[in-house]
Amino acid sequence: MKFFKVEDFSKKLVQWQKKHGRHDLPWQKNRTAYRVWLSEIMLQQTQVATVIHRYDQFLKRFPTVQALAAASVDEVLAEWSGMGYYTRARNLHRCAQVVVKEYQGVFPRDPELLESLPGIGKSTAAAIAVFAYDVHAAILDGNVKRVLARIWGIQEDLAKSSQVKLLWAHAENLLPHNESDLVAYTQGLMDFGATACTPNQPACMSVPKKFCPFESNCQAKKKNLVKAIPLKVRKVKVTQKDLTWWVLICRRKVLLEKRCQQGIWEGLWCFPEELSFEPKNYQALLPIRHLLTHQRLNIQPKQVILERQSRPINQQQWFDLSELDQLAMPKPMTDFLRNLTLTLDGE
Ligand code: ADE
Repeated sequence: MKFFKVEDFSKKLVQWQKKHGRHDLPWQKNRTAYRVWLSEIMLQQTQVATVIHRYDQFLKRFPTVQALAAASVDEVLAEWSGMGYYTRARNLHRCAQVVVKEYQGVFPRDPELLESLPGIGKSTAAAIAVFAYDVHAAILDGNVKRVLARIWGIQEDLAKSSQVKLLWAHAENLLPHNESDLVAYTQGLMDFGATACTPNQPACMSVPKKFCPFESNCQAKKKNLVKAIPLKVRKVKVTQKDLTWWVLICRRKVLLEKRCQQGIWEGLWCFPEELSFEPKNYQALLPIRHLLTHQRLNIQPKQVILERQSRPINQQQWFDLSELDQLAMPKPMTDFLRNLTLTLDGE
């Protein structure tokens, strides 16, 4: 690349990180492998602001990998409740059990071994190895792909395996030679992608303009392609699904049902979608839209106030409102129940 010396990339990024990056995140303190691993799994699909609120609480509940491995999967799911993508919580639990059983409770430092554990992909393995053990390894998540593609002007589908291969080679090539810079460099890549070279309002295009250390080298900027890179390719077809939530309330209790069939919310507590009786009166509440990877759910909650509790069938159970925060529930349920609790408490 004639326009850019590779060494300059890591130098500029590390300088940027020192001044503009994030330094006070809870998982940046006391970097043990357990704390780092937990944060990286939480951050895979949940925003930093949400994880900040949940991280310390999770650690309080499960202070060590041994404590997590010894818990039941339901306890782990309950602590994960509302963060979505529950496969992460199941894998977290399985991973803790493997680390305790096969690695004497010590996370391995080799990124390839880390990658063989449940729920840890190549980029997450590298992040854990860097942050916990200062290992020389490259990360490449969606944010990093966007940053590299913009600076080097890659106008291709970044999901194509040939591009992924090239990007990995590039990411490895860019690593700083000075090992003491590795942590700041890796954190810098994450922070720069998340706060400066963002998908829609990147620093160079925001008003007022924000500082970008790569502006004079960035091919996307030079060719006015910042918004066009990464190339947008529609991959998954999103289907619509309509469903009803029966919100049965009797005094301060609600009827919930534990999902048992294979499916998105397996093992989580939800409102019943079908009842064994036809309620005479119900109030249709504001519909909820919830976007999953492949599906858009249109949920119609129908509220029924009962004088007496109906008899629970199958996996149903009546719960007091005060018991709900101990249950694992999908995100739209916790959001909905927060409002419902406020409404009922306000009465
Ligand atoms: N996203 C993924 N890992 C992260 C980290 N360690 N800090 C901030 N954001 C992240």
